[in-house]
Amino acid sequence: MTAGANKLEQTLVLIKPDALKNSMTGYVLSQLSEFHSGLRFAGAKIVCVSRMLAEAHYAEHREKPFFNALIEYLTGVAHYPDEAWKRRVIALVFQGNEAIRHVRAIAGPTDPNVAREKLPGSIRSMGAIVPVRDGLGKIIGERLDNLIHASATSEEADREIKLWFKPNDIPPSMRIYETRASEEHFYYKDGRLYIKHEPGSVCLLAPGDTAWATDLDALHAVHAGRPSGTHLQAVAAKYLINEDVD
Ligand code: RTP
Ligand code: MG
Repeated sequence: MTAGANKLEQTLVLIKPDALKNSMTGYVLSQLSEFHSGLRFAGAKIVCVSRMLAEAHYAEHREKPFFNALIEYLTGVAHYPDEAWKRRVIALVFQGNEAIRHVRAIAGPTDPNVAREKLPGSIRSMGAIVPVRDGLGKIIGERLDNLIHASATSEEADREIKLWFKPNDIPPSMRIYETRASEEHFYYKDGRLYIKHEPGSVCLLAPGDTAWATDLDALHAVHAGRPSGTHLQAVAAKYLINEDVD
């Protein structure tokens, strides 16, 4: 990797629907640009986020009271309830020395009010706190609209980059996680895995396709009925990105 870098890392950034709605994308990209951050782009895509992908991304928060509001936020339903075609996130991989810590610092604290107090000028200091109401209009919690997601640890970055990006979305010289060629077909339909074509299924991988080694391990484990560290949905979600399957 880059000569002279003492801790070369990659990190996942999501520019969330509130940033797109408020036309903050240019500002965020400028804050993260190589000139300002010293980091380089390793991957970029526009994603219409499925519920499956959002739930896999924020799986650690599944039991939190704000989980449903968080999923509606990341999928764009919260900001575009009636204009589904506007529901988008920009997913980015940045690479550089201490990229994870560096991007978290530029992002600022999770809560926009805390960001305004502790780190004015950080990206999240421009976020908003929105009350969440039940069907009767009663306030049942709050949503933190904080413009971007950034991986917090190297374990998170590893899991998240492989959740949102296929190896071929990243230039070969910038791939830092192990890959392998698939030796068989894998198809997905309604939460189930198949190795032979099933009517209505989506082909995740074909022989010769380059895949993350951990995904292939997970698919083989699922097919054999063995326990797997990575859920089938977390493998399938990225292959279904922007597929017209609904
Ligand atoms: P992120 O994963 O989005 O980069 O945020 P983070 O690490 O700074 O914070 P995390 O604890 O992972 O929370 C994930 C997202 O959930 C929303 N949140 N809402 N209502 C609440 O108390 C609450 N706490 C967190 C935020 O949108 C946060 O980015
Ligand atoms: Mg987080």
